[in-house]
Amino acid sequence: MSKSKSLFICTNCNFTSLKWSGKCDKCGSWDSIIEENHNIEIANFSNKKFTPSNSVLTIKKLGEDSENHQRYATKLSELDRCLGGGLVTGSLILIGGDPGVGKSTLLLQVLANLSQQAINSLYISGEESLNQINLRAHRLNLLTAKIDITTDTNVIDIINVLYKNPQIQVVLVDSIQTTYLKEVGAAPGTVNQLRHSVLEFAAIAKKMNITFILIGHVTKDGQLAGPKLVEHMVDTVLYFEGDRANNLRILRSHKNRYGATNELAIFEMQKDGLQEINNPSEIFLDEYNAQSIGSTIFPLSEGSRTILIELQSLIANSHMATPRRAVDGWDNNRLAIILAVLSSKCQLNFAQYEVYFNVAGGLKITEPAADLAAAASLISTLKQQALPYKTIVFGEIGLSGEIRNSNKSFERLQEAEKLGFKRAITPKLKKKPPNLKIEIIEIKHITELLNYF
Ligand code: TYD
Ligand code: MG
Repeated sequence: MSKSKSLFICTNCNFTSLKWSGKCDKCGSWDSIIEENHNIEIANFSNKKFTPSNSVLTIKKLGEDSENHQRYATKLSELDRCLGGGLVTGSLILIGGDPGVGKSTLLLQVLANLSQQAINSLYISGEESLNQINLRAHRLNLLTAKIDITTDTNVIDIINVLYKNPQIQVVLVDSIQTTYLKEVGAAPGTVNQLRHSVLEFAAIAKKMNITFILIGHVTKDGQLAGPKLVEHMVDTVLYFEGDRANNLRILRSHKNRYGATNELAIFEMQKDGLQEINNPSEIFLDEYNAQSIGSTIFPLSEGSRTILIELQSLIANSHMATPRRAVDGWDNNRLAIILAVLSSKCQLNFAQYEVYFNVAGGLKITEPAADLAAAASLISTLKQQALPYKTIVFGEIGLSGEIRNSNKSFERLQEAEKLGFKRAITPKLKKKPPNLKIEIIEIKHITELLNYF
């Protein structure tokens, strides 16, 4: 006996229900529920005769067949590292970022670099006219690059182009919010359109071994717009972040089936395109003044990179019942926890002050190891005293004020020493780092930090 049944699936969180609703009961997102027809077969399996399927292979056989992830080097070493060694053939890469951060610029540079290695690419521009692309290519001095361009965003037409031009190896879709399938019947950019477009691209990528780079819009809170499902469907997700106020741009790998996640690539937007930054600590510390109050240097460890960055805080008298706390580049809740620990364990009270906290350079940090550096910055502001000269600080703070160990201690200390730092306030290290000259001050409890002011 078999019967046909509709199921309603949330494209954001995969929650399934039997009836449609405008808002998902589980994740609360609007307009994300779509209908799917499922032929549910209710049968007695034990009575069925099964024939062995020839679609089952062994891993050994797969290994023999695979081309071992052939990759195209983008010739931007920062980006290649972020991707885990270049663009994997036949894979889908999604790049998200705020408008104007430089997504189109970066990828036009990538396609031009590929063309120099005789790798053929197709640029699908749904956002900009041919004239605008021409202007950008002019600005980047890439007018001689051999890149095919189309402004057609109908997915079936794109696939036809790919069948007719089998020499195309890389396709850039700028952006997936503009591509559409007529059959889906919804406007481009809607959840259903995105889902189907990406499904088609995924199928053609695997079939013809074409690499797809998909540019995606992000929402106000920095998430990729559209269904989370798209992130599940692609192989790699990169986020391009940056601060409008300065020219630094950070590319971060969020998901990577072919490499490590949380890798960072750092670029600087210049008047003729994005330039790679190979010495990020120097750039982030450019305006750092070792004597300034409220500022601490934190050795951030992301992926295989260690970068020294400056954390800054400021307090101001407040007459409000709940004084303001404003955080840029760090977690609001984390600041609240550190302020609570400083108040209960060190009797340092911020209740009558507004507190402003900032990560210089527009970087967003999520590492718990930043806790101690943030605490040092806050103490420095409250006491109006700078930390000792050329000191870095790292370590996680527990709720009872204990300082917990952080990973990659050695790399953090090494980077600090390389940049001329003299002293490091750290958690109790499991192993003494050999051959480092930097003075290491290990502390076990937050109260010990007060001794250095
Ligand atoms: P763009 O790549 O169009 O951003 P996105 O595709 O992410 O929306 O970048 C646009 C910004 O970058 C724009 O404000 C101008 C600036 N820009 C430069 O500073 N230098 C350059 O060489 C180029 C091409 C753009
Ligand atoms: Mg763009």
